[in-house]
Amino acid sequence: MSEVDPAERVEELRRLVRHHNQRYHELDAPEIPDADYDALLRELLALEERFPDLVTPDSPTRTVGSAPSATFAPVEHRVPMMSLDNAFTAPELQAWGGRLERRLAELGESTRAVGLVGELKIDGLAISLRYEGGRMVQAATRGDGRTGEDVTANVATIDVLPDVLASGAPEVLEVRGEVYMPIGVFEALNAAQVEAGDRTYANPRNTAAGSLRQKDPSVTARRGLAFWSYQLGEVVGGPAFARHSETLEFLADLGFPVNPEVRVLESLGAVYDHAQHWQAHRHDLDYEIDGLVVKVDDLALQRELGFTSRAPRWAIAYKFPPEERTTRLRRIMVSIGRTGRATPFAELEPVVVAGSTVGLATLHNQDQVRAKDVRPGDVVIVRKAGDVIPEVVGPVLAERPEGLEPWEFPTDCPVCGQPLVRPEGEADTRCVNVSCPARVAGSIEHFASRGAMDIEGLGEQRVRLFLELGLLHDIAGIYHLDRDALLGLEGFGETSVDNLLRAIEDSKARPLPHLLVGLNIRHLGPAGAQALSRRFGHIDRIEEADVDELAAVDGVGPTIAEAVREWFGDERNRTLVQELRDAGLTMEGPAAPQVEQNLVGRSVVVTGTLDRFTRDEAAEAIKARGGKSPGSVSKKTTAVVVGADPGASKRTRAEELGVPVLDEAGFEHLLATGELPGAEGDTEVPSSD
Ligand code: IVH
Repeated sequence: MSEVDPAERVEELRRLVRHHNQRYHELDAPEIPDADYDALLRELLALEERFPDLVTPDSPTRTVGSAPSATFAPVEHRVPMMSLDNAFTAPELQAWGGRLERRLAELGESTRAVGLVGELKIDGLAISLRYEGGRMVQAATRGDGRTGEDVTANVATIDVLPDVLASGAPEVLEVRGEVYMPIGVFEALNAAQVEAGDRTYANPRNTAAGSLRQKDPSVTARRGLAFWSYQLGEVVGGPAFARHSETLEFLADLGFPVNPEVRVLESLGAVYDHAQHWQAHRHDLDYEIDGLVVKVDDLALQRELGFTSRAPRWAIAYKFPPEERTTRLRRIMVSIGRTGRATPFAELEPVVVAGSTVGLATLHNQDQVRAKDVRPGDVVIVRKAGDVIPEVVGPVLAERPEGLEPWEFPTDCPVCGQPLVRPEGEADTRCVNVSCPARVAGSIEHFASRGAMDIEGLGEQRVRLFLELGLLHDIAGIYHLDRDALLGLEGFGETSVDNLLRAIEDSKARPLPHLLVGLNIRHLGPAGAQALSRRFGHIDRIEEADVDELAAVDGVGPTIAEAVREWFGDERNRTLVQELRDAGLTMEGPAAPQVEQNLVGRSVVVTGTLDRFTRDEAAEAIKARGGKSPGSVSKKTTAVVVGADPGASKRTRAEELGVPVLDEAGFEHLLATGELPGAEGDTEVPSSD
């Protein structure tokens, strides 16, 4: 392969980066995932570093964002809106820390006690809000950092922002932060698009940006946008601040939304731990984050450190591994699940997403394929978020080869050949043939799986093999597998056969909730199975119960109740239960829970660091007692537990709303007794429901 001329490649990369800047910042319609964009920018940075002669002042590595569009009036930022440099790995974060220390040493500052602030990096769009005399007078996008777009009328529709500030607010106050679309709002919007047969939106960030940059503010108003404040711009009058964290507290006091997860952290090690926590828990939030922003807390040091042409030296964005990548879609197929559901899925050229190789990704259902309009041969965006199954987000239309045909959902089951059925008003298409080999295999696999009867050694491959060889025909057949027949199979020695038979034997003792899950009753998951089992104690009582009795069980409700009745109403299912009973399976439920359920209906918010609990342990302790542990304080909150270095706004919010604030000892008292400390005897604790 011939070596590419660096000057040419630099030019090409600049063209590409500018093109994608425009798609992202001006058109709110990026063609490629952020990770692919970051890769282009990093390649450009690396080439400019290697060949300094090729550097130009207008290179996108030295500028911010994209020029403002002509749709909105221009707004000059009195204090420029800068971007952030990125660190993608722990060593890159360390390197930033090293540069910081060296620079401070040069400036004659001791580095020993540089306090840092860790903030979630919200994936939305940066906006500057300007208040004069306590009233919002202007809101602008970042634009190229110097000139943004006037989006005042649109931002004014965002509910969570104060229109008027309390007296005593600075004469001029610019608040910078991120406008975002809560995930719940985004999902509801997309559900409505699917319902209407329209194209779905790709992700909350672009939808937020598109919603904000509308000509008609009434469209913005309907989009449920929200805001987190994270920085001051121009300020005239008002108190003087020594620390960034104080500015955030001040903003929270003025009624601006400040993210509850802001933390003052003592070292880069603590920053790293905080980032690890949020990388693991990012999907617990109702908004998207793509990393952690680290800022030097001391404002005097910030001023000394200053800026490069595009970003502050006193801050860095530590980005999480990408959850979206692009790859080629080879073909679309349909799988038949244990309930007969026909799920379209994509076979992809394998690609590493969020740390694992993805070759297959779901397309959910017929309407989703239509709404996304992905076609075999397309370059597609693949997303793998947390524990969720990888999915195809949509095609990269700019790269669609000519002549690709839309994909048609099959009319017949690809496994048994019987017609597929889509009941009126339902999203799913099904194979309704109960003897369809795919359904039978799926239901046996499910019965033996970990969340159900947990039969080790009876996984997908063996179930399929036994079915094929006629050693197994249905679920009950598991308990009649013939040892000699198994020993006759290739690769099955005495040890593995005996292990399998022992695992099958052991499964007979699994308590009722496991059996209920294994029976493959629509909508019934582990939580519902637990609830039924606790209430009725025996499968016969569940079979006898009517819909109302079932639906009255806490955690069950009418959908599950109907499904349970329907399941037991089918003669074949009752026969299965009888066969399992005859085989010696336990039909009874578990004993009452070990921990007293003294926090049912209550919600306890925990903020800051506790001595005797990690954050997760505190939440677990609350949930184990039947309570909830949400991330934000509302008037329904029972109590807020405050540890060391609490979130900036939770305590303030609790005090505003009159919600009791507890220390760690008070929290332990609440866990032990279900009562607030100081509460007498049977004093009512406010319930969150
Ligand atoms: S501070 C001069 N803090 O990330 C400091 N930015 O990649 C400027 N962002 O343009 C920004 N969360 O749109 C800051 N907690 C946070 C942030 C944050 C998200 C965005 C912001 C910025 C971009 C840079």
